Amino acid sequence: MLRGAGLLVLLFLPDPTIGQEMDTLTGHGGAVLEIAVADDGTIATGSFDNSVGIWNERSPTWLEGHDAAVTAVEFMDDGTLASAGDDFALIRWQEGEASVLGHHRGKVSDIAQAPDGTLATASWDGTIGLWTTDNPPVWLTGHASGVNAVSYMDNATLLSAGADGTLRVWDVSDGSNRIVYSHGFGINVMETASNRVLIGTVDGRTIVFEPQDWTTVAEFGTDRDPVLSLAVSPDQSRFAVGDGAGHITVMSMPDLTVEREFTATANGPVWALAFDGEGHLLAGGLDHRVFFWPLDSDPPLQLMAANAQSNVPVSNGARQFQRKCAVCHTLTNDRSRRAGPALGGLFGRRAGSMPNYPYSEILANSDIIWDAETIDALFDEGPDHYIPGSRMPMQRITGPEDREDLIAWLRDATALTEE
Ligand code: HEC
Repeated sequence: MLRGAGLLVLLFLPDPTIGQEMDTLTGHGGAVLEIAVADDGTIATGSFDNSVGIWNERSPTWLEGHDAAVTAVEFMDDGTLASAGDDFALIRWQEGEASVLGHHRGKVSDIAQAPDGTLATASWDGTIGLWTTDNPPVWLTGHASGVNAVSYMDNATLLSAGADGTLRVWDVSDGSNRIVYSHGFGINVMETASNRVLIGTVDGRTIVFEPQDWTTVAEFGTDRDPVLSLAVSPDQSRFAVGDGAGHITVMSMPDLTVEREFTATANGPVWALAFDGEGHLLAGGLDHRVFFWPLDSDPPLQLMAANAQSNVPVSNGARQFQRKCAVCHTLTNDRSRRAGPALGGLFGRRAGSMPNYPYSEILANSDIIWDAETIDALFDEGPDHYIPGSRMPMQRITGPEDREDLIAWLRDATALTEE
C-alpha cells in the first residue's frame, strides 16, 4: 500500500477539477523556478529537476544539460535560448543542442540580453558576467554579496540588484557602477519596463522607480513574505508580484492599483511568473506544474478553489517531509525527475544503491545502511558532517521529535510492499 504517495498527491497536486478546469503545463519532476515566453508564444521553463522544458501547444520537449537546478531561462533575439543554474553554468541552446558558454563560481540567478546580443549573468559569486560570442567573459565586481538580478537599459547601461540590498547602474564600457538605491534587506528580483524599474525584496516590499532620476514612484507590500518573482506584461500595462507564501498580486502599471489577487500552489512559494501575451499569467512554484491564471475572465476568484490547500489533517512527520524533502525526493522506487534519488524501499537499503540514479562517488561507495538510526544521524549532524562530500544539501533537523516523527512517517511511506 503506497499510503505516503497517496497523501503526497493530495498535498502537492490538488486536483484542479475540484474547482474549475485550469490550464497547466505538466511534466516537470521538480519545482518550476523560472518561466520565459518568446514572442511567438513558445514557453521555456527551468526546474529543480535540472531540465529546461520547451513548450509548444502545451506539450514539452526536454533539454538536459545542466547538472543542477535551472534557475534562469531567457529567449535570445536570434531564436536560441540561454539557461543557467545552480551548476554555475551558462548554456546556449540551438535546436536542442547545448553549448556551454562558461561558468561562474556560484549559482547563477538571472540572465539578461542587451540589444546588441551581449548576455549578462547575475551570480551568487558576487559578480556579473558579460558574454559575447567572440571574447572571453568579462566579470563586473562591486556587489558586496550575491547578485540576484540583471537587466539592460541599453547596450551600455546595465542594472543589477542583489543580496546586499543595492540597486546599481553599470557603465559596461569601463565596468564602473554607482548605487542608485539601497534597501535594508536583500533585493531578490528586478524587472524593467519602458520608464519603470521594479524590484522585489526579502522583506516583502515591491518598489517601483522612475529610472530618469531614481525617485520612488510607489512602494507597497507586507513585511512578511519575501517577494520571489516579478513579471511585466508584454504591453507593459500590468505587472505581477509573487511571494514566498503563494500570493500573486496583479497590478495595473499606469495606475499602480491592484487588479487581481490569487493564491497559488497550495501556499508554496511562487518562484516564477510570466505573462503569455494571450491574457494569462503563468505561475510556477513547488507544485511541478505551471498554472495559467486567466486575467480577463470574470470572476477570477472562483479559480482560486482550483488550487486551494486541502484540509486533510497532516501528521508532523508528513509535514516535515513535505516541507523539507519532497521537492527532491519521491517515495516510489522508479527513476524520477527530481534532484535526489527516489526513497521507495529506503529502510534496510544500502546508501547509494538506487539503480540509474547518478550518485556522488562518496554516497555510491558508502557502507551506510539506511535505518532509523542512520537517518536520524544524517539530519541530526547534517549531511555535510555525516557524509562530507555528498551532494545532499546542508540541512539539519534540530528537534529530536521532528526527526523521530519524520522517520516514523518515512518508514511507512517508503515501504513498497503491495498489501
Ligand atoms: C535540495 C534537494 C534535496 C533535499 C531538500 C533533500 N535531499 Fe535527500 N538527497 C538529495 C540528493 C542530491 C541526494 C544524493 C546525494 C549524493 O548522491 O551524494 C540525496 C540523498 C538522500 C538519501 C540517501 C539515499 C540513498 O539512496 O542512498 C536520503 C536517505 C535522503 N536524501 C533523505 C532526505 C530527507 C529525509 C530529506 C528531508 C529531510 C531530504 N533528503 C532532503 C537531495 C535532497
